[in-house]
Amino acid sequence: MVELALPRGSQPKKGKTWDKTDGAKNTRAFKVYRYDPEQGGNPSWDTYHVDLDDCGPMVLDALLWIKNNVDSTLAFRRSCREGVCGSCAMNIGGRNTIACTKGMDEIKGDITVAPLPHQPVVRDLIPDLTDFYAQHAFVQPYLQTKTAAPEKEWKQSEEDRAEVDGLYECIMCASCSTACPSYWWNGDKYLGPAALLQAYRWIADSRDEMTGERLDDLEDPFKLYRCHTIMNCTQVCPKGLNPAEAIGKIKHLMVERET
Ligand code: SF4
Ligand code: FES
Repeated sequence: MVELALPRGSQPKKGKTWDKTDGAKNTRAFKVYRYDPEQGGNPSWDTYHVDLDDCGPMVLDALLWIKNNVDSTLAFRRSCREGVCGSCAMNIGGRNTIACTKGMDEIKGDITVAPLPHQPVVRDLIPDLTDFYAQHAFVQPYLQTKTAAPEKEWKQSEEDRAEVDGLYECIMCASCSTACPSYWWNGDKYLGPAALLQAYRWIADSRDEMTGERLDDLEDPFKLYRCHTIMNCTQVCPKGLNPAEAIGKIKHLMVERET
């Protein structure tokens, strides 16, 4: 995948190269995007030398090592550190992914780390995902029914439950949407692969009774149909999901209900 563009308005300059820590013999260079809107000016690429003998194997381990040992001002999001929360998504080595499950050994040479592309940057590696979450909310990602609620629970056969495999596992990391050129160009109108995968997750759920209304909400030249099957979404998803396929299935249902 090609190196992705940096956030709009960014013209990063060469930044500071930090000294190696005392006694470090086995190091790896990290070029990290730095931007602090309170300081003004252009973003920069700072270079750090991570002591591999004193650090875990993942890119997130290296960022934490930098923060703890070299530069406490480096800002990034993380929480679970095991690929569950989605908060550590960033662009690593030119590709969107989550830092906690990305091994340093998967990348050759110096490791570049930038925020998710084409989103406003709050600071350093932290993108502003306000629109992304609003798009998620738009698809109403929860069970909706019309019939009276059962006394105990909404039941589902094993086969019906299997229909949401490959959908429910999404951790809303935004790697897919921010890797999509259609989303870069029309992010204010196109819902993007992550929100559409979530939309299909509830359309495909046998217990949900709002399929028609959900499809109505997506029947729009931009919200759904700006997907041009470029497939970056599926290539980058760190959970191995296939948003492009989910979008294709929604389009198919749109055609099916017209015939
Ligand atoms: S589909 Fe994959 S890349 Fe997209 S938000 Fe979900 S987990 Fe992240
Ligand atoms: S810290 Fe939760 S997915 Fe990486």
